[in-house]
Amino acid sequence: MIEVQGLARAFGQGSKKVQAVSRVDFSARPGRVFGLLGPNGAGKTTTLRVIATLLKPDAGTVTVAGHDVVTQADGVRSRLGFLTGDTQLYARLTARETLQYFGRLQGLQEQEIESRISELARLLEMEDFLERRVGKCSTGQKQKCSIARAVIHSPEVIVLDEPTSGLDVLSSRSVVEFIRRSSEEGRTVLFSTHILSEAENLCSDLAFVHKGSVVESGALEEIEERHGTRDLNRIFLDVVRDPS
Ligand SMILES: Nc1ncnc2c1ncn2[C@@H]1O[C@H](COP(=O)(O)OP(=O)(O)OP(=O)(O)O)[C@@H](O)[C@H]1O
Ligand SMILES: [Mg+2]
Repeated sequence: MIEVQGLARAFGQGSKKVQAVSRVDFSARPGRVFGLLGPNGAGKTTTLRVIATLLKPDAGTVTVAGHDVVTQADGVRSRLGFLTGDTQLYARLTARETLQYFGRLQGLQEQEIESRISELARLLEMEDFLERRVGKCSTGQKQKCSIARAVIHSPEVIVLDEPTSGLDVLSSRSVVEFIRRSSEEGRTVLFSTHILSEAENLCSDLAFVHKGSVVESGALEEIEERHGTRDLNRIFLDVVRDPS
């Protein structure tokens, strides 16, 4: 479970200061898929990086499975798998070697690593390129490899920043199915996306972030009811429209 309360985070100082996140609150629960939506620059990636302990909050409290991201960062990291756009892979390793390497870093036994690789290769449809060097993999294949790498240790909480960006329909579908499956297994999944149709058919809960603040959140049906429409595009435009 992920709890975010009163989160704020700025970058830079003085006249160059950018308030990336000023007021973000939400909670993501096990067995439900939580979607973070919002326009470019809204503060989604910053929020996810704080949750993943890569950035410290200026204000607010964030806990992951009961562990505070500042004071119990190790506890958070061992329970969390994080995919970000700038995840780096080693071009010279094959997909399988990449997963073996990160499995060992996570302290898994060789046998566990192999069975986990088989499982993830099946779920994410990676069988065809497991023995290919990552440098020679396509964008979609690399993305699947990054996702598999992020969850090699079977974390109970999975946080994915735009997991399907740049993927074709087929690759997106296997990532979407992977997310659905993970949540059915009782994991907590939080992800950001610009693809509203994907959020609509995958998420039980949503938060819309605009200029660093959550401007709408709740269960999908609840939000649809509030706005009198099931069209997420319309709701999106509704909530990010400036009152001025
Ligand atoms: N490391 C950084 N240094 C300075 N400013 C930053 C940094 N990271 C983010 N920002 C700024 O913070 C704001 C929020 O950025 P963030 O990446 O969180 O947005 P986002 O919602 O993920 O956007 P997108 O949909 O384009 O990925 C932006 O104005 C961005 O320029
Ligand atoms: Mg982003």
